[in-house]
Amino acid sequence: MVQIKQDYKQLIELANEARRHAYAPYSNYLVGAALQTKTGRVYTGVNIENAAYPTGICAERVAVFKAVSEGERDFEVIAVVTDNGGSPCGACRQVLSEFGLDTVVLITNGKGKLLREITVGELLPEAFLPKHVQK
Ligand code: THU
Repeated sequence: MVQIKQDYKQLIELANEARRHAYAPYSNYLVGAALQTKTGRVYTGVNIENAAYPTGICAERVAVFKAVSEGERDFEVIAVVTDNGGSPCGACRQVLSEFGLDTVVLITNGKGKLLREITVGELLPEAFLPKHVQK
């Protein structure tokens, strides 16, 4: 069994609580995320779907965009909760990689069980990074 660190447990609970606000009437796949920054603040996110399907957004990106829009760019760890322990999609991996490959990703199921603890760099090897664009 994977031991859940105490602070991870709290973060996972926050992600699961946030999940109640997920707006997913089309997929019925509810996702919650909780992103902890290096300053210790936590930004939650949920997936928000739309009748025009591609305009919906994932929980992880909502959490990242909330943090960045409030001046936070240094991330420690993000907890992601789904019913079945789904892994962050490619677009979310890319968005997370912009702000650091060492961010820890906790993949958990709806019962709060930690299924996987992995870094963004491991989830997205050979990521396209800011250094590739900056001169
Ligand atoms: N979804 C997320 O919120 N995060 C992921 O990493 C994978 C997928 C959402 C998008 C959509 O609202 C629903 O889950 C089904 O794809």
